[in-house]
Amino acid sequence: MKIILLGAPGAGKGTQADNLVKRYSIPKLSTGDMLRDAVTKQTAVGKQAQEIMKAGKLVPDDLIVDMIKDRISQADCHKGYILDGFPRTIQQAEALETLLASQQQRIDQVIEFSVDEDQLVKRISGRFTCKSCGEGYNDFYKNPVVAGQCDRCQSGDFIRREDDNETTVRSRLKVYHEQTAPLRDYYQKKALLSKVNGMGAFDQVTQEICSILDKVLRAA
Ligand code: AP5
Repeated sequence: MKIILLGAPGAGKGTQADNLVKRYSIPKLSTGDMLRDAVTKQTAVGKQAQEIMKAGKLVPDDLIVDMIKDRISQADCHKGYILDGFPRTIQQAEALETLLASQQQRIDQVIEFSVDEDQLVKRISGRFTCKSCGEGYNDFYKNPVVAGQCDRCQSGDFIRREDDNETTVRSRLKVYHEQTAPLRDYYQKKALLSKVNGMGAFDQVTQEICSILDKVLRAA
């Protein structure tokens, strides 16, 4: 099963993708995570992406498409995958479609998260992550059970993303409305789009997505 999670920054794509990985045993492919890893390692891609990400703009399509092309050719993607943060432009969506068609494959479902803008800003400004295991937390919605200690690995080392500040968030939201939101119509016309209420509690959103995906699996 090949799924796209579509939604504004902070909509909950990464959080829900992690839940879907466990439920459907397919990997999450997050272009944001791949780029952050490239920046940390200071690869050629990372060096090119660093300032663009800091400004909340989009990294060039050709670079992103090459990255995804390489990733989906790996063995763990044979059964399918969850795309988190890709595609983000019509050009990326078309490149993905062409790539999959050349292998007689296609996207099975696109899930769009709807979340109010004020809520997006609040979620992003409250987000932090365990540096050791990557478990996600939020000042407003999900704090560790023991303050200052990760629930999963007990580390006390947490990090915040460099682009999670109010100025960059506003720029990321503007870019989303201008360049990514048109994908809604693109996938609606292909009858692949389902919407979920991203304002619900964590588990409610997961349930809503799973009921859509279970139907897709039954129909396959
Ligand atoms: P990327 O890493 O993809 O960031 P994003 O799309 O801006 O999305 P976020 O990770 O901010 O949000 P999310 O929806 O995953 O929310 P999360 O689940 O964490 O991209 C970063 C940058 O990389 C881009 O700006 C761009 O420069 C570049 N890039 C990446 N992909 C690209 C591409 N394809 N093309 C070009 N450039 C690209 O949730 C957020 C917070 O809310 C968390 O703290 C979470 O705990 C909380 N939360 C989640 N769900 C709920 C809920 N139901 N209730 C309460 N709180 C919740």
